[in-house]
Amino acid sequence: MKILVTGGCGFIGSHIVDAYVEQGHEVCVVDDLSTGNIANLNPAAKFYEMDVNGDIEPLLAETTYDLINHHAAQINVRTSVDDPVFDARVNILGTLNLLTTAIAHGVKKFIFASSCAVYGEPGDYPISESAPLNPSSPYGISKVTAEAYIRMYGHFSGMDYVILRYSNVYGPRQIVESEAGVISIFTDCILKDDTCKIFGDGKQTRDYVYVDDVVQANLLALKSGSDVFNIGTGIETSVNDLVNIFSDLLGRDVKHSHIDPRPGEVLRNALDMRRVFSQVHWQPRMGIRDGIAKTFEYFKKVSRS
Ligand SMILES: NC(=O)c1ccc[n+]([C@@H]2O[C@H](COP(=O)([O-])OP(=O)(O)OC[C@H]3O[C@@H](n4cnc5c(N)ncnc54)[C@H](O)[C@@H]3O)[C@@H](O)[C@H]2O)c1
Repeated sequence: MKILVTGGCGFIGSHIVDAYVEQGHEVCVVDDLSTGNIANLNPAAKFYEMDVNGDIEPLLAETTYDLINHHAAQINVRTSVDDPVFDARVNILGTLNLLTTAIAHGVKKFIFASSCAVYGEPGDYPISESAPLNPSSPYGISKVTAEAYIRMYGHFSGMDYVILRYSNVYGPRQIVESEAGVISIFTDCILKDDTCKIFGDGKQTRDYVYVDDVVQANLLALKSGSDVFNIGTGIETSVNDLVNIFSDLLGRDVKHSHIDPRPGEVLRNALDMRRVFSQVHWQPRMGIRDGIAKTFEYFKKVSRS
């Protein structure tokens, strides 16, 4: 297949590019390198340093792509609160630009990296795909809106789409600055012998899914019909649990302190994984302890080189 991956120099996108290349697909990457790293780029992929809001017409006119896998985004929830217009420009208008140009040029399928942020804090856990979409941040609103455009254009144009709503993804190459990346942030603190800072009492939970499992979902999505899937584990892990896992793995107490809670922070998250399992037989394989160990080893190696 001829595949265009946006955000293919970023954390998740670059792992997906590696897997598509490995499977023998012809891969092209569009990335503006705003948070991505050129060192993540698979050497077999063609690269265009471009904004998804820019003039992508010539690129899609030149080659007929079978698939666009859209991972480029403004991913920081705090940035979306501080500058919702910027967030909307990248996440809504950028998606719309790509989507309408893709349809005009006969792209057959569109895979979209959405987020559990579309649900906000529903009260019922684990959260199923049919839960109300009630985002509590501009970032969540931008993902809900992009999804709505994809469904609408998919329906009217006949282009297949797969929307993947990720929980908290972690693993090698995740940037430390990324808000969602508490595992990479703690790893970085530990390697620098700093204190891990925990917001509030540390009992807030997230559903952490390892990046290789997310890649597997993007491979299965190649064969799936149009659908929306949660991609997580269904397991709640608290920030205190993370500190305990790190301490256990390292065989010593990890330095940590509790600071003021973040106003408006979502307190719980766990996704219901039944639909993706029944439709495409995807299930996460990596346990949190092994995933953290692998992530820690990666960052340790990188910090030494
Ligand atoms: N990391 C998570 O836990 C998580 C959770 C839910 C959803 N997601 C979604 O997954 C996708 C990838 O996230 P990530 O964690 O790999 O983030 P990332 O920041 O590592 O990757 C995003 C990539 O997009 C590029 N990019 C940003 N704006 C662009 C623009 N205007 N034009 C072209 N390229 C641009 C960046 O340079 C970067 O390479 C995003 O859509 C994000 O919203 C991530």
